[in-house]
Amino acid sequence: MSEAFPSVRTEIGGVKVAELAERFGTPLYVYDAAVIRQRIAELRQFDVIRYAQKACSNLAVLALVRKEGAVVDAVSAGEICRALAAGFPPTADPPPIVYCADIFDRTSLQLIIDKGIHVNCGSMDMIGQYGRLAPGREITLRINPGFGHGHSQKTNTGGHHSKHGIWYEDLPEAITLAERWGLSVTGLHMHIGSGSDFDHLAQVCSAMEQAVRQAGGRIRSISGGGGLPVPYRPGEARIDVHRYFQLWDGTRRRLEQALGHPLRLEIEPGRYLVAESGFLITEIRAVKRQGPNSFYLVDAGFNCLARPILYGAYHHMSIAYRHRTEEESLQEVIVGGPLCESGDIFTQREGGFVDKRPLPAARVGDWLVIECAGAYGFTMASNYNSHPLPAEVLVMDGVPYLVRRRQAWEELFAGEEIPQVLR
Ligand code: LLP
Repeated sequence: MSEAFPSVRTEIGGVKVAELAERFGTPLYVYDAAVIRQRIAELRQFDVIRYAQKACSNLAVLALVRKEGAVVDAVSAGEICRALAAGFPPTADPPPIVYCADIFDRTSLQLIIDKGIHVNCGSMDMIGQYGRLAPGREITLRINPGFGHGHSQKTNTGGHHSKHGIWYEDLPEAITLAERWGLSVTGLHMHIGSGSDFDHLAQVCSAMEQAVRQAGGRIRSISGGGGLPVPYRPGEARIDVHRYFQLWDGTRRRLEQALGHPLRLEIEPGRYLVAESGFLITEIRAVKRQGPNSFYLVDAGFNCLARPILYGAYHHMSIAYRHRTEEESLQEVIVGGPLCESGDIFTQREGGFVDKRPLPAARVGDWLVIECAGAYGFTMASNYNSHPLPAEVLVMDGVPYLVRRRQAWEELFAGEEIPQVLR
């Protein structure tokens, strides 16, 4: 198997898997900083790389992204607080933090007003609610271009079934509404879905071109959103980011000519920056047969990585041996976790159909590494079945840094209380 998809993995970022597992325990998320740096470097042609932190929002990862010159988006008050804690200033040009959502909850609205965070409005209601409290500020608008595409129907964020963005036909009305509230619309944004493909992403360019022509000379920045896919399986090609940039750059240049002033070109990737940097190290705790099927049961379940049960997402897996070095022959296995729920299977297709995976023969005590897990892995983890959240490690220049310790038992029920009458 190719180097990117090994069936036996001995190290991550130059550190032995065995060392990571023994020192920090399992289940464990490990991120290789070199991969994140590399992906940011590939996108540097864009004026602004705005990292969609929902993919992986550990403070150390945000700080790394900041040091590499990228900025962030935020979809909640919590994500704004994370960005501030990771050292992003609340305001600057371009805005270091942009709140990009379809609603304000009351907490996020207040925080945004207090800190002066830039807002990308995804609904008409946001415009009125913001204008009432902060007239005179600049906003950008998230436009739903009328179509969308994602790796799963659940990650498609465009079209008339999607709740996201302001419907493209309502753009003139949105601008009028903003102006009525004293807000100036200075940019447009479109994000059609997550894990899309080149052809669909390319269609956004012409939708953006039409929208900007309609919005006119007030527009100073455009954002193509995120959604860039990564190769999750052997044989999947990497998206041609240079070609993607050229398409956007062409759109930008034509619009600059039409408007007579420069336009800032933003991109907003989440997965593309972090997916391939991340590994979930688990320990095999049982090897069992059920009739004709073999199972590896590991100490992480969909409490740690929900993508397979949610979307039938495919993650490559490899084995790290505890004592042996020779790779053993491949066998077809089903990989499951510890949760008391039959859907707790990592090898499943969308719809919940269980698949088998060729993996090297392994024993209890060996490690199974779930790969390409840096995006929407830890951030979608939960405490289901009262499992603590896993620890996270960032490997930089061959050194593993613990960037989040494993959750302690007491933290599982911190905040809960037994009323006096039940004591
Ligand atoms: N911008 C906006 C407005 C978004 O809603 C998203 C993702 C992104 C950027 C980043 O998309 P990316 O470049 O990462 O594809 N949990 C799903 C993905 C949900 C994405 C939600 N929004 C998954 O595990 O595949």
